[in-house]
Amino acid sequence: VASPLMVSFCAGAIGPWWIDRIDPVFGESLPLAAKLSIRTDTPIAPVASVWNLSGVTSNTRYATRSEVDALVRKQEGLGRTQAICAALIPIRKSEAWWALAQDERRAIMEERSRHIGIGMDYLPAISRRLHHSREIGEPFDFLTWFEYAPEHAGDFEEMVDRLRATEEWKYVDREVDIRLLRTFD
Ligand code: HEM
Repeated sequence: VASPLMVSFCAGAIGPWWIDRIDPVFGESLPLAAKLSIRTDTPIAPVASVWNLSGVTSNTRYATRSEVDALVRKQEGLGRTQAICAALIPIRKSEAWWALAQDERRAIMEERSRHIGIGMDYLPAISRRLHHSREIGEPFDFLTWFEYAPEHAGDFEEMVDRLRATEEWKYVDREVDIRLLRTFD
């Protein structure tokens, strides 16, 4: 898939994903809707929606060479047949985070919070895609998307609990946890 890829998550009446629940983790939540469609057509055509969040895939910022190699060896792609569960977790980080320098952010994220290390424990069961939104004036800085099979739902909960307990998450000032199930119609 081409990168950067512009992706739009549209919550409304149509789409292949049923929205199971929307839970606020930090700050304001998002309104409930029935279904979610993920659009990658360019330019993204406007559709009737309850809410619409966009982001762009990008190059990595923090992962080192050996981490990138380890991720590539272990991760699987999106769209696996058995991965009928998904999570869309939009996240905004605080001004304090954005005031840090790149090396300080890396130290918090990995040396002190082990974000990549924790995430790696759950590959290949969980597949993921990170979208950047801060640069395009969106309400969230990141849109994180995950897919997994029902038998790994417990592992996914354990992973988000571990991540939310880290120093990195002290800089998260808005987070909404949206869970979905793939429909087959
Ligand atoms: C499947 C397990 C996971 C793995 C392997 C993983 C891995 C990564 C990696 C490698 C990066 C850095 C990319 C870069 O170098 O720019 C990253 C960034 C990020 N991840 Fe995860 N992650 C996982 C799970 C999660 C979860 C569950 C969440 C949310 C609850 C999350 C939220 C984020 C966010 C917001 C960023 C961007 C951080 C920033 O640039 O400040 N990740 N992840």
